[in-house]
Amino acid sequence: MTTKESRSSTGLILPSYARDDASHPALNTPEYHSSALRHPQQPLQYLPEYLTEVTGPLLGQDRCGEHDHDLTVQHDGEPLGERIIVSGRVLDSGGKPVPNTLVEVWQANSAGRYLHQGDRHPAPLDPNFSGTGRCMTDEDGFYRFITIKPGAYPWRNHDNAWRPAHIHFSLCGQAFTQRLITQMYFPGDPLFYQDPIFNSVRDPKARDRMISRFDLDTTVPEWALSYKFDIVLRGPHASVFEDEEDDD
Ligand SMILES: [Fe+2]
Repeated sequence: MTTKESRSSTGLILPSYARDDASHPALNTPEYHSSALRHPQQPLQYLPEYLTEVTGPLLGQDRCGEHDHDLTVQHDGEPLGERIIVSGRVLDSGGKPVPNTLVEVWQANSAGRYLHQGDRHPAPLDPNFSGTGRCMTDEDGFYRFITIKPGAYPWRNHDNAWRPAHIHFSLCGQAFTQRLITQMYFPGDPLFYQDPIFNSVRDPKARDRMISRFDLDTTVPEWALSYKFDIVLRGPHASVFEDEEDDD
């Protein structure tokens, strides 16, 4: 990311930031049709934080409920589908663990349907699955979720368009202004080649960092397969982060 200065309407001199379009999704990705109208037309500008951001609600361990990290026990019965474990570490540049970070996930159910009024995919809702979870990273940067493998779903971006199975991730630092969002995919998905969101990341190595890794060592025998997904905030191995408006 490179910077240069610009002057705001109030006369304040602000640094503006040029995105690294090689390892991040380009803001204007014509193949991802809905990005055409909502991508920024001007360079990103740094907005200084004020006392409100600093003194706002703090994120902490006591804000997560006992079952928030386990999406399979949030209702009276078990959800349908393939139970999986998704875990990993949040790391800074140089592999330094990031503790006490709020990690939130949201996803479709095993049939590819979101519990959302805007989802019109004719697949069944699951009364035992809401598709949202959260936890805090521990002192070594580890997080862990138990969930159901999400299904692929159609999304009308182009003819016969289907999203590969994915889980949305949100990370918060010490304040909501420090939020980062990304998506986790599953290895070997046959839908990667036709997905303009996945392919909006042009660097193949950066795309690979969005794909989780199957891990037999943390697979629990006769119970659940395990996938590992580390999230790296900065540096040459940084994860791919997207704009908050992207919700497909
Ligand atoms: Fe999605």
